[in-house]
Amino acid sequence: MSVKVEKAPEKFEIPKGLFVETVTSVQHYTESLFKFRITRPASFRFRSGEFVMIGLPNAEKPVFRAYSIASPSWDEEIEFYSIKVPDGPLTQHLQKVRAGDSILMRKKPTGTLVNDALLPGKRLYMFATGTGIAPFASLIRDPDTYEKFDQLILCHTCRQVAELRYGHELVAALKDDPLVGDLAVQRLIHYTTVTREDFPFQGRQTDLMASGKLFDDLGLPPLSVADDRAMICGSMDMLRDTKAALEGFGLQEGSNSKPATFVVERAFVG
Ligand code: A2P
Repeated sequence: MSVKVEKAPEKFEIPKGLFVETVTSVQHYTESLFKFRITRPASFRFRSGEFVMIGLPNAEKPVFRAYSIASPSWDEEIEFYSIKVPDGPLTQHLQKVRAGDSILMRKKPTGTLVNDALLPGKRLYMFATGTGIAPFASLIRDPDTYEKFDQLILCHTCRQVAELRYGHELVAALKDDPLVGDLAVQRLIHYTTVTREDFPFQGRQTDLMASGKLFDDLGLPPLSVADDRAMICGSMDMLRDTKAALEGFGLQEGSNSKPATFVVERAFVG
C-alpha cells in the first residue's frame, strides 16, 4: 500500500523525544539515490559525522531508520542522502517527499564517525561506498576536521558513475564555502572509483589498497600508524573487509570512549 506523504495533520500529537521538521528541498540523482534537506530545530545539537533516527508521520507507529547527518554541525538546515528501496519500509515513502512535507526526527544524535574518536594524526582517510559518503559530507564541511588533520582524503566507490554525482557536486561546491573553501582546495583529496562501469579509476577500495594502487594514485605512502587515521562507512560487507584491510596496516579500531586510529559506522540504512 502506498501512503501519501503530507504535512503532519494539525492534530498530530508530537510524541516526547521527537522533532517534527519541514522538508526545504529535494534533489534526485538516480533512480535509487536522492538528497533532501529539512529545517533544523533551534535546540538540536550534533557533532559532524553523527547519525539520527528519522521517520514519517504516515502511521500510528512510524518506521524509524538511522540516517547519517550530511550537513556539518554549524549548518542552519539538516541534510540527508538516501537510497530508494522500492519496498523499503521507510524509503518507499521517503523517496516521495517534497518541500513542505513533514519529517519526524528523534532528538538524540549519536555515532562513532566523529573527530573525537580518533587520536591526532596527519591524514584522515574517509572510506565510503554508496550512501556511506553522507557522514563525510558533514565532516569535510566542518572546520574542526581541517584543524585536527593536515590532509583529508575522501575515497568514494560506487557501482556506477552516476552514483558519484552527489559527492562530485558536494566537493565542487566546497571551493566557494565561506568557512572551509580555501582549506578544502588545499587539503582535501577526493578519490573516486567505480566497480561496474568504465571509469578512469576502477575497483574496490580494499583491492586498491592491497595492490598499492590507491596510494600510487594519491601519491601518498601506504597507511601508517604514525600518520594515518581512518573512518569507514558502507555496507556490512564493506565495513568488515575495509576494517580487515586497515588492521593489516596496523591500525586499531577506536570509539568515543577509547580513541584509536580508525572508526567504523555500524548504522546503515537498508
Ligand atoms: P562491487 O560492484 O564489486 O560489488 P553496494 O551497492 O553493494 O553497497 O556496493 C557499493 C560499492 O561498494 C560497489 O562499488 C561495490 O563493489 C563496493 N563493495 C561492495 N562490497 C564490498 C566489500 N566487501 N569491500 C569493498 N567494497 C565493496
